[in-house]
Amino acid sequence: MKTRITILCENLVGKRVGLGEHGFSAFIETGRGNYLFDTGGGRSIVANSLTLDKDLRTVRKIFLSHGHYDHTGGLPEVLNLKGNTDVYAHPHVFVDRMAIHKENGTETKRFVGIPNKKGYLESLGANFVFNTDFTEVEKGLFLTGEVPRKTHFEKPDPKLYREISGKPEPDVFLDDQSLIMESEKGLILILGCAHSGMINIIHHVINQTRKQKFYAILGGTHLDFLTPEQLEESINVLNQLEIERICVSHCTGLRAACRLHLEFGDRYFYGYVGSVLEV
Ligand SMILES: [Fe+2]
Ligand SMILES: [Fe+2]
Repeated sequence: MKTRITILCENLVGKRVGLGEHGFSAFIETGRGNYLFDTGGGRSIVANSLTLDKDLRTVRKIFLSHGHYDHTGGLPEVLNLKGNTDVYAHPHVFVDRMAIHKENGTETKRFVGIPNKKGYLESLGANFVFNTDFTEVEKGLFLTGEVPRKTHFEKPDPKLYREISGKPEPDVFLDDQSLIMESEKGLILILGCAHSGMINIIHHVINQTRKQKFYAILGGTHLDFLTPEQLEESINVLNQLEIERICVSHCTGLRAACRLHLEFGDRYFYGYVGSVLEV
């Protein structure tokens, strides 16, 4: 059986029916079973799974990229259908998180962390499996764990904070991790929001797997919210790497997505609800 990755939750809906919401989730079908990477914010995952004929009750494992609500908010919906499931995440996934916007002298603070408590999710069947390091979850299926920050141009998003004992401090996103699948055509890398920097993540994956060839990179990249330098430097590096398909969306932002489409032509496609990558 082919490996098939279907975008279940995303900001935009493409040519097929479905609901859009700010968030990300990918349904992964393989010869040895199905997996879920992130769950969106909770408004679209069940509706889109029905529309796209992806049975959430068949999910063997759930992977969480980080603790933002738009990647974790759909967990109760999935657990209500599936019941007991291993949920892989970094222990910081439960840290309280805020987005602080300053505009015209006014500051707005919005909670953007995981909306449900660990105990509640466990009562619905979540069995949390925490990792901090690069981990082989199953043969040929890896989680990056914490990603070393090495590039000079990938900066944290200055609007994003974490709250420890009620005190906001810039969020360092130790929990940001990505999923890697080996395939005959090369590695498939699925990103959540790439808060540790898309290029830092790619370098970490190359170092850990000792493989250079990527069949595809999917998910959110946060390329449109930071500096123009980050986007251009990232494109420079991507051009030097062996990557066959680029299917980034979500927090990539439309301006950066357009720029990537222009740069990579037919190798790029936007990953909206219903987009499919087959290997
Ligand atoms: Fe996100
Ligand atoms: Fe995020």
